[in-house]
Formats: sequence, C-alpha cells, structure tokens
Amino acid sequence: METIRWNLKKEQEQALREAGKLLAAGEVVAFPTETVYGLGADGLNGEAVKKIFAAKGRPVDNPLILHIADKNMIYSLASELSPLAEKLADSFWPGPLTMVVKKADSIPDEVTAGLDTVAVRMPGHPVAAALIREAGCPVAAPSANISGKPSPTNADDVAEDMMGKIAGILDGGPCGIGVESTVVDTTGECPVILRPGGITKEMLESLVGKVELDPALNGNPALKPKAPGMKYRHYAPLAPLFIVEGKTAGREIIRLMKKAAEESVKLCVISDDITLGFIKENSRRQEEVSFLSWGEGKEDLAEHLYELLRECDRIKPDFIITTAVDEKGMGLAVMNRLKKSAAYNILVADEDGLSVKSGTNFPPFVLK
Ligand code: TXA
Ligand code: MG
Repeated sequence: METIRWNLKKEQEQALREAGKLLAAGEVVAFPTETVYGLGADGLNGEAVKKIFAAKGRPVDNPLILHIADKNMIYSLASELSPLAEKLADSFWPGPLTMVVKKADSIPDEVTAGLDTVAVRMPGHPVAAALIREAGCPVAAPSANISGKPSPTNADDVAEDMMGKIAGILDGGPCGIGVESTVVDTTGECPVILRPGGITKEMLESLVGKVELDPALNGNPALKPKAPGMKYRHYAPLAPLFIVEGKTAGREIIRLMKKAAEESVKLCVISDDITLGFIKENSRRQEEVSFLSWGEGKEDLAEHLYELLRECDRIKPDFIITTAVDEKGMGLAVMNRLKKSAAYNILVADEDGLSVKSGTNFPPFVLK
C-alpha cells in the first residue's frame, strides 16, 4: 500500500480533509496528539478497526481508546456516565486523560476486545481534534508503533514503523508530552489509575480527593493489570536496559563504564545533562560509550524517552544504562515506562556501591 505523508506546515486544510475522508472510508491514518502519535480508524467500523491491529501486529485482546472532539460525543459511546466521569471530563478535557466507562451497544467488539467498558479520550492537540471532526466519527487509535516498540513521538518514527502499511501519516511535528495519556477507570466509587500518564495522580487528587493506583502497576507479575495493554513488555528497545538509581548513580556508572570497556562491551548511557556532564568529566574510558541526554527534569525525560530508546536501536549497543527520576508528578508515568523497558532490572547506587533493587537479568560485568 502506498502511504501518503502530509506536511501540515504546508497543506493543513487540504491534508485534514483528505485524511478525514480516508478515515470515513474505513482506512487507517496516523496523526499527532499532545501525548504520542495515534493510529486512527473509524471507531464504529469493526472492519476498519481490524486494520489497526494488522498494521501494528497488536494482540486482539488489547482494547483501543476512542478519541472524540467534543465532550458531547461521549454520551453516544457510554451507556452511563458517573458524576465522577463528568467531573473529570469537565476539568481535564481536552487533554491527556482517558476514561474507562460502561460501553454503549453501538461500539464494535474489535474496539473493546469484548469488555463491557470502553476507553474514551478527548485529545488536546488541534490536529487530532480537527481530524476527528473531518472524519465525523469517534476515532479508535492506539499509539502508532509496531506492538512492543516505543511509541512514536514524531512523524519519522511513525514512518519507520508504518510506511507501506497504512493509508497516510499527518506530520504535525513532535508531540509535546511524550508519554501516553493517563487511563482512569471511572466505573467505581473511587477513580483507579490503570496507566499513569500526562495527567498526574496529584492533579486528579486535587480535584476528587482519593485516587487509587491499580496494584498491578508495581510490577508484581502475580497481579493481572486491569488495562490489558499493561501486561505486555512494552516500550522495549532492542538491547537489554537496566536502571541505576540513587545518589551516587553517576559515580557508579563511571565504574561500570570502566568494567564494560575492559570486556569490550558497548554501552549507551541515558541521563540528564548534569549527570552526563559529571560522568564525561570524570571518566577516562569513553570510546565504547554513547551518551544520550534527555535534558533537565522529568518533563524533559517524558518528552524524549521514546525517541532516545529508538535512537538506541540505531546505535545498537550491547547494553543500555539509564538513571532514574523521582516518582512524583510526571515522574510516576515516566518511571512506569522506563521500568517496563528495563523489565524491572534496577540497581541502587549509594555510599556502599551498587546493589540489586529488583530483577535478575544483569550482564556479568555489572555484578563482578
Ligand atoms: O496518549 C494516548 O493514550 C495514546 C494516544 C494516541 O491517544 N494512545 C494510546 O493507546 O496510548 P494504546 O492503545 O497504546 O493504549 C491504550 C491503553 C492500553 O493499555 C489498553 O489496554 C487500555 O488503554 N484500555 C483500552 N480500553 C480499555 C478498557 N475498556 N479497560 C481497561 N483498559 C483499557
Ligand atoms: Mg501503545
């Protein structure tokens, strides 16, 4: 299939019209949102939705989010909307919040994977909103990556995964937030975060008080996550990744670099500007190391994480080491993704050196 790539800087109106027509005709089009790029199809057309699963290689038991352009659209998608859901929508839409609600009969099983609930979100990106209006239907859209790869946050990363597989890509430049929306179950008394994301736990709490976290989010393999997608090892770069957290992470990474160099092991080290500056100034063996910076704080890490993981796939190191951020605010979402990428292989660096916090899959040069 030939994939059209529209540059929105040059041909916004025309591109949106054509892309909207393709969606209405049952084709798949990728588009920017404020979180990550989405892979859209008419959410009320089961056959169109199947094409999304085919293009991504996505397991069919993983349901999709329906994207809407106007709050009123949710009343025809939900069979009931709790006062809690109304309140969340009024405060955080448009924006990176996805609400799980009881589904209406009109929604095809392909979207919900047979569940009696549906996930709905009103994105804050003007291109996403305009595209949904042009299409004239709710747009079912997962992230526009091949299943298991990091989500795309720019049109080149979408093209890398989707060229030749879908009808078109709307290139709207880089996404601002960089990690996916927060998925909240609104069907009970208390909201439950099924996937942390762009709307933080603290923001939700300041509006409604108590907010729960799906206990499966802490990585305990015995617990089954309520968002089916959270059970997969997502966001995975090709090389094994492990996290070094703690006060002396920079110093310990320098020691690991030395040991890796002795064994000709090629590393990518991902961290913030300050830590990388410290590492570069204080280490001698740097030939075999690629340094990738996310910038300064956790918002920068959220914005650049997926693009850095994809960059690692191009560099092809033997191992990837990252440092961590605290789990407040956006830190919860970004550390959730990072820990999944690391398959929960985490080391702690303190005055006594390195110790294992979780995981068993560390390369030999680390534990020697
Ligand atoms: O920011 C985002 O949410 C992006 C952009 C494109 O909007 N979309 C996205 O979609 O991340 P996806 O398909 O990659 O992730 C959707 C998540 C999955 O973990 C899925 O299992 C969960 O939402 N989900 C969807 N419907 C659900 C439902 N009815 N109940 C529980 N979880 C659901
Ligand atoms: Mg995804």
